[in-house]
Amino acid sequence: MYSQGLTDAKGGDEPAELLAEFQAKIDREEKIEPRDWMPEAYRKTLIRQMSQHAHSEIVGQLPEGNWVTRAPSLKRKMILLAKIQDEAGHGLYIYSATETLGVTRDQLNDELLTGKAKYSSIFNYPTLSWADIGAVGWLVDGAAIMNQVPLCRTSYGPYSRSMIRICKEESFHQRQGYEIMTVLARGSKEQKDMAQRALNRFWWPSLMMFGPSDKDSKHSEQSMKWKIKRFTNDELRQKFIDATVPQAEHLGLTVPDPELKWNEQTGHYDHGEIDWNEFVNVIKGNGPCNKERMQARIKAHEEGAWVREAAQQYHANKKSEAA
Ligand code: 3HC
Repeated sequence: MYSQGLTDAKGGDEPAELLAEFQAKIDREEKIEPRDWMPEAYRKTLIRQMSQHAHSEIVGQLPEGNWVTRAPSLKRKMILLAKIQDEAGHGLYIYSATETLGVTRDQLNDELLTGKAKYSSIFNYPTLSWADIGAVGWLVDGAAIMNQVPLCRTSYGPYSRSMIRICKEESFHQRQGYEIMTVLARGSKEQKDMAQRALNRFWWPSLMMFGPSDKDSKHSEQSMKWKIKRFTNDELRQKFIDATVPQAEHLGLTVPDPELKWNEQTGHYDHGEIDWNEFVNVIKGNGPCNKERMQARIKAHEEGAWVREAAQQYHANKKSEAA
């Protein structure tokens, strides 16, 4: 179907009538499937977004993996292990959906491990306490749900279908995180202080998960037109803030934004400005854990080579036996 690699797509010179029919199909809310004709730019931006989404799922296991051996009880350890295992599955679903666009898993992996492809900035922050594991579930998975529920209606069929199952599992992730925060917030003073520090550390980086502001988002306009995105970055960010602030209040914790204030006129929370320099810096590779995360992924990939070779050899043997 597609022999082109990730980046040698030309695009933009397709016949106008084909482009018009494609857009009409999108406007009729028809799903685009792998074998359908699509503009090269549509294919390319899907590979970009979907592969980075999958990379985020895989890299996102690392900050949580840090606490498997230090979970405060067997129950917490089991829940955390189940969540991390889910994230691996989410990555595999989305990588498989991305491969339907004519790229290989090896190409995608290579893009990540050589630093060409991004993953969500949030995973470049450390998890310094057990409360951070609660804040990650509550805020990071909460933000992911806010972003992923609309993606269940994204125009590309395989991506949309992968999101439906992921969102069901994501809800468990968010609830277990909020439950950790609830136990801590209702615990001793030290525990509540630990929960507050975790909220302080993860609040702003979680807002950055929704991407740059709409005026600085280079892909949003086209992604909205192609119904890859159903809401803009700022719209989803605002929905997340509006839903999460009352949860923090219920915990008796303070959101670390002195400008946060309910606005009766708009029916939304007004909030302070995100530190976009921090956002850009972390994406550029200068976050607290960027290097550590890449080293861990490269090490895991190298150490896993024998498993891949054994699986491929097993498959080759099976094929020759069947021949
Ligand atoms: N971290 C890293 N890069 C980011 C970013 C972030 N938080 N936000 C935006 N960017 C990048 C974009 O990838 C793009 O760079 P690129 O051209 O090299 O790809 C650039 O900044 C400009 O941003 P745009 O808003 O123009 O880009 P998009 O239209 O792609 O919007 C997005 C960004 C909202 C993240 C969108 O890509 C998206 O919705 N992706 C799918 C969801 C996703 O990837 N979520 C990440 C977390 S997954 C997760 O949390 C798993 C959970 O189980 C824990």
